[in-house]
Amino acid sequence: MNPSGDVKNIALAAAGKLRIEWAGNAMPVLKLIEKRFIKEKPLKGLVIAACLHVTAETANLMLTLKAGGAKVYLCASNPLSTQDDVAASLVKDYQIPTFAIKGEDTKTYYSHLNAVLDTHPNITMDDGADLVSLLHTKRKNQLSEIIGSSEETTTGVIRLKAMMKDAALKIPVFAVNDSDTKHMFDNRYGTGQSTLDGIMRATNMLLAGKTFVVAGYGWCGRGLASRAHGMGAHVVVTEVDAIKALEAVMDGYTVMPMAKAAKIGDMFVTVTGDKNVVSFDHILAMKDGAVIANSGHFNVEVAVEALQKKAKAHRIIRTYVEEYTLADGTKRFLLAEGRLINLSAAEGHPAEVMDMSFANQALAAEFFIKNKGKLEVKVYTISKEMDQEIARLKLKGMGVQFDTLTKEQEAYLGSWQEGT
Ligand code: ADE
Repeated sequence: MNPSGDVKNIALAAAGKLRIEWAGNAMPVLKLIEKRFIKEKPLKGLVIAACLHVTAETANLMLTLKAGGAKVYLCASNPLSTQDDVAASLVKDYQIPTFAIKGEDTKTYYSHLNAVLDTHPNITMDDGADLVSLLHTKRKNQLSEIIGSSEETTTGVIRLKAMMKDAALKIPVFAVNDSDTKHMFDNRYGTGQSTLDGIMRATNMLLAGKTFVVAGYGWCGRGLASRAHGMGAHVVVTEVDAIKALEAVMDGYTVMPMAKAAKIGDMFVTVTGDKNVVSFDHILAMKDGAVIANSGHFNVEVAVEALQKKAKAHRIIRTYVEEYTLADGTKRFLLAEGRLINLSAAEGHPAEVMDMSFANQALAAEFFIKNKGKLEVKVYTISKEMDQEIARLKLKGMGVQFDTLTKEQEAYLGSWQEGT
């Protein structure tokens, strides 16, 4: 593998550079951190290996880490999410070795992960815990070199917490996803908008009047349901958690089991983080022409393999739209092979929300180095103060002013003697 990177076409760099600049314009919090990093160089001498979606927003994070003095290496966290022009620009214009090609096969995907780990990083960054997983299985000898690893997404954090529970986790990790300034904005507004963007770019179908089934009412599901409703769709939510199901009902949506929703939905989107949420039986029960997509991290939420095996005919009818004809002659349309529709057919979350997610990532790297030697093997989360500070900076960047407690109010909140 060429140590300077493996990209689709280096000649795409000029377009990628403009795209990186455009995204950077909407990332004021990250830019403030970058400015400080240029002065303070807190990451000097560190090697950081990142396995993230290779997008214009991620490129801006890489530039911030490099500005902080780190040597940075990047690979893709999903075979379909890479923006090839951005990858080319990172290599050509910014000398950041990047290993990512949109549409890469599984073997290439893992060779890229291994390429960034071959650099012997001190800090790793994941979106889905793939680097941490490799470090704990095939590359255990490198665990002692790791100061810490940060994790971007819900699915990855669930994996890390499961590792910790089993005492399998051997390094300190930082759950970026658990920051309020991450999941309340990126997961909700980012996924809400980018998922619809992906569906619309892939299908050019009208959402108004459609029955739109959202599987999962976590932060991503909440955002997606609200955006689909805003586009005029009739939103049906499926859930397994009673409180979330109740919340969806009180937010105004119809809640029912997937077995029922399958019969009435026009479009189905999974955002659960779990597997086989849309099973082959559900697919069979769907109406002729139903559209199925996934916006959860892994391509396990829809029974794609069963659909591939059992369909009697298959063709690609549009880019990212596969038409499957079932034994009874009816059709189902699967988007982006059941992989993240928002990053496959569209460009992922807008820079405005990635600004806060990646501010958290940059500060997580700084947290690791500041606390080197004192860290425990556990899942760390951001302090309330830092979370508030990121929100404050974001509001400032948006030109929004807000109130502060008076001394009297502060004292009142800290007291218990005063009543009616
Ligand atoms: N995850 C979702 N959207 C993203 C984006 N635009 N860049 C990087 N990771 C993402």
